Amino acid sequence: MKFPQFSMLPFLMVVVMLSLSGTTLSHPHWDFLHCLSLRLANYSTISKVIYVQNNPSYSSVLNASIHNTRFSTPATPKPFAIITPLKTSHVRSTLYCSKKHGFQLRIRSGGHDVEGLSYVSEVPFVILDLLNFRAIKVDTKNEVAWVQSGATLGELYYAIAAKTNTLAFPAGMCHTVGAGGHFSGGGYGTLFRKYGLAADNIIDARMIDVNGRILDRKSMGEDVFWAIRGGGGNTFGIVLAWKIKLVPVPAVVTVFTVNKNLEQNATKIFHRWQYIAHKLPDDLFMNVWITKVNSSQVGMKTVQATFRGMLLGGVDELIALIQDKFPELGLAEENCNEMSWIESVLYFGGLPLQSVDILLDKNALPTLSLKAKSDYVKEPIPESGIEGLMSMFLEEEADNAVAMIPAFGGKMDDIPENELPYPHRAGNLFEATYIVQWTKEENAESGKYISWSRRLYSYMTPYVSKSPREAYVNYRDLDLGINNNDYTSYEQASIWGFKYFKNNFKRLVQVKTKVDPMNFFRNEQSIPPLLSPWKKKGN
Ligand code: FDA
Repeated sequence: MKFPQFSMLPFLMVVVMLSLSGTTLSHPHWDFLHCLSLRLANYSTISKVIYVQNNPSYSSVLNASIHNTRFSTPATPKPFAIITPLKTSHVRSTLYCSKKHGFQLRIRSGGHDVEGLSYVSEVPFVILDLLNFRAIKVDTKNEVAWVQSGATLGELYYAIAAKTNTLAFPAGMCHTVGAGGHFSGGGYGTLFRKYGLAADNIIDARMIDVNGRILDRKSMGEDVFWAIRGGGGNTFGIVLAWKIKLVPVPAVVTVFTVNKNLEQNATKIFHRWQYIAHKLPDDLFMNVWITKVNSSQVGMKTVQATFRGMLLGGVDELIALIQDKFPELGLAEENCNEMSWIESVLYFGGLPLQSVDILLDKNALPTLSLKAKSDYVKEPIPESGIEGLMSMFLEEEADNAVAMIPAFGGKMDDIPENELPYPHRAGNLFEATYIVQWTKEENAESGKYISWSRRLYSYMTPYVSKSPREAYVNYRDLDLGINNNDYTSYEQASIWGFKYFKNNFKRLVQVKTKVDPMNFFRNEQSIPPLLSPWKKKGN
């Protein structure tokens, strides 16, 4: 047999690298690497792009984008290799070799998937980590930008603010979240009552489909372009970059925070808030956080409702508005701060206000272990119901738990449910995300925290949306159900599919069936194709 010299060289390099690192390889692993090395064909590229287990940098590359340490234990399944492409051809090669040699592909952008789906799988897998796909091009003249999927929201906001203080983008509040996963599931933050979700403001995309074709909006067609803007990641293809529409913001916005604990009537004020917040002008964003805090009585705990928000306007306008519509809050000037929109990103991200450079630091905040669940609320919760919710936050497991409750309304009411896969629009007073956190050192006790979150979810049943009980796919919750490793029926996937997407689930299944009928792009809650060839064979 004759091997072309040129192609064999990099393969031999991999062999040398692997033997030096002590890695032992079985056939499929070997075949995959062989396949990739033939396609990369350059030693220095290989060493920058392929990280196999026992490579000295493997763990640091793997851990660099793990944002839930629940999935960072010795028992957590690890990828056989992490591929960090430098260019599009590397992405296509990884796709080609994964398909050819039967490895599941997990695409990772920011690594914030709350169930760890971008870096954990129960079957042999490789991670396609887009950490080198972080370029951002802002065009202020046309009020658009191109953002590669591996860029964080912090990097995006920073790049916009470096050019102008009167344009912004309506996406999430945590600066380390990646564009790739966030835009794929919707994405909301402080501007969503004014401008809708991140996904509502995407006007084009560059994607690689399962056949390795590079597509833009025109060539992928409107069905696929619809599906990738909210239908969940790792399902329709690998999105390399997004073209987004920037939105106008005033040079000065006003942020505010008012804390009310149980002794200060938190329950009554939150109860009242439910009737008012969703009807306020769309220039105002308002979020309530419920947490356990120290009480003024030494050694005692209480529960606090933190009302935090932002007006696209000045402080006088804000105070007049709140005094008129929601005087119970008692908002005063000392609760408010005028600042630029980019400074408000720091404020809502829990970052020090000194320098916006911190938006480029992926390690600015500690990473914890967590479990998240979400709900949508359409009728005000009675005071007695809120009292029960508050009392659950006094339980031991809730030391580091939060219910994050942003008011809906505004632009969200104007966008039809089927405009994009994200269906939770008019009729919602607010969304509630419950997050319980603990340290990595406490992972052995994660069961008690997770069962607290399940009890809270069960407690909330009478007060939240029904038939289906809706949920936000970006706060993914595997308790809602998971795909089988082989074939998953439409009926089975409907259990969680209708919660995330309501009737849009049907169209998502149709698109999936058309673009990826063999179900190559998959994870525990990806959209299954209607009848996979696997099933047709009668297996
Ligand atoms: P990650 O890389 O883990 O990807 C998430 C999913 O998308 C995975 O299934 C992955 O395979 C897939 N995927 C990633 N890149 C892809 C690509 N290029 N092409 C195709 N599929 C891809 N949400 C919100 O709306 N507002 C908020 O303010 C916040 N804040 C927040 C804070 C914190 C601390 C966490 C942990 C989460 C949030 N979220 C949020 C939820 C967040 O929007 C959600 O987890 C996103 O999916 C994360 O996107 P990443 O790219 O970071 O994750």
